[in-house]
Amino acid sequence: MTSTSVGPGPLPVDWVRQQFPTLTDASILMDNAGGSAPLGRVVDRLAEYMRKWPVQLGASYAESAEAERRLLSARTAVASLMGENTREDEIVVASSTTSLISRLARSLAPGWHEGDEVIVTDADHEANITPWRRLAERGIRVREWSLNQDTRRLEIDDLCSLLNDRTRLVCFTHASNVLGGAVDVRAVCATVHEAGARTCVDGVAYAPHRPLAVKDWGVDYYAFSLYKVLGPHCAVMYCRNTETPGLANLNHMFMDDYEGPGRLEPGAFPYELLYAAAGVPDYLDELGACLGDDGDRTQAWSAVATQETCLARRLLEFLDAQPAVEIMGSASAGPERMPTISFVSRRHLSSDIPAICDCHGIGIRWGHFYAPRLIDRLGLTKRNGVVRVSMLHYNTVQEVDRLIGALEPALRGRAA
Ligand SMILES: Cc1ncc(COP(=O)(O)O)c(C=O)c1O
Repeated sequence: MTSTSVGPGPLPVDWVRQQFPTLTDASILMDNAGGSAPLGRVVDRLAEYMRKWPVQLGASYAESAEAERRLLSARTAVASLMGENTREDEIVVASSTTSLISRLARSLAPGWHEGDEVIVTDADHEANITPWRRLAERGIRVREWSLNQDTRRLEIDDLCSLLNDRTRLVCFTHASNVLGGAVDVRAVCATVHEAGARTCVDGVAYAPHRPLAVKDWGVDYYAFSLYKVLGPHCAVMYCRNTETPGLANLNHMFMDDYEGPGRLEPGAFPYELLYAAAGVPDYLDELGACLGDDGDRTQAWSAVATQETCLARRLLEFLDAQPAVEIMGSASAGPERMPTISFVSRRHLSSDIPAICDCHGIGIRWGHFYAPRLIDRLGLTKRNGVVRVSMLHYNTVQEVDRLIGALEPALRGRAA
C-alpha cells in the first residue's frame, strides 16, 4: 500500500488491502460481482497443496493420509461459511455454482413425477433457472415467480399464488446480481415449507457481502461461488443434512448406497481449490480477531457491511443526482442493499460507459450478467443491459471518488 485508505468504520482498510496481492493503487477493481481479487493466503495454500500433496486420497501411505486429513479440515472450514453448525458432510464442492445447481436438478428429478411443479424466478442468474426449466422435457411443470413491476422486487405475496400441493421446489436468488437487493430468505423458506415444498437459493451475489446462516433460515439447498468471495475458482452448495440420502447418486454405480456429498461429486472434487478456499474463513477469523470477535465472525462481517454501505451510499448519491441516470434497484444504501449497483443513462447505450472507465484504469462492466430475463423484464435489452459497478469491502472511498470523477463528464447534464 502506498496511500492511506480512508475507511468509514472500524474496518482496518490498509491491513485488508495488504491481504490481496493483486490490489494496487494503479488500477481499480469494481467488477467484483464478476470475480473478486483472491486473498494472498488463498494463493499460497493453492501452491502449498500442489507442492506437497499432489496425490490421490484413500491410500495408506503418508502423503495420501495427510492430504485426506487436510482436505477434511478445509471442508470443515469452508462449511463454516454457510453459517453456524454447518458440517463438512453437508456441503458439496464443484468448479462452479452453475455446475452444482445442474447436478442438483439431475439428482432431484428422478424422485419427481409428471405434473409435479417447480417455481423459478425471472430475476435470477440463469444458473438457477435453466436447469429447472429443462425439466419441462420430463413433464415437470415450470411456473414463474416474476419480479413485481411496482416494487421491482420478488414479493412473497406473488409467490403465494403459485404454491400448491404439486410444488416440489422453489428456486430463487438471495440477492440479484443486477439489482443488488436482498430477499428475506427466512420468510420465503417458511412460506414454502408451509406449502410442503423445498427451496434452492442462489447465494452467489449475497455471500461476498454478508454472513450466511443457512440452518437458521431453514434453507434446503444454498450455493455460492468462492471465486467471488475472495477465493479460488470453485463453488459450494449446502444440502440440508436430512436431504442428502434422498438425492439420486450421480457418482459411480458401485457408490449407490453411499451417503453424503460424494453422491453429488462424481469423480471427485477439486482438491487443491478446496484446500485453498479454506484461506477465506481463515481471513475472516483473523479480521474478526483484530476487531474483537470472540470465536465468531460477528465484528468482521459487521465491519464489512459498514464499509460496503458507506461505499454504496457515496456512489448512489452521485448517480441519484444525475437527471439522465436511472438506478436499477434501490437508490438507498443499507444492510439489505449489496454494493452491486447497476444503472442506465438515457443518453448512452450501457455498452458505451465502461470504455470511459477503462481509460482511467477502473474496471466495471455492462450487459445482462447472465440474467437476460430480468433485463428483458426491465425493458433494457435494447439499451444493451445495464452498467454495473460492483464493489467489495476492500474498495475505498477514494476509489469511488475516482470512479465518480471518471463518470461525471459523461453522465452529467439533462436527460435527453
Ligand atoms: C448471481 C449469480 N448466480 C450464479 C452465478 C454463476 O456462478 P458460477 O460462475 O460459479 O457458475 C453467477 C455468476 O456470475 C452469479 O452472479
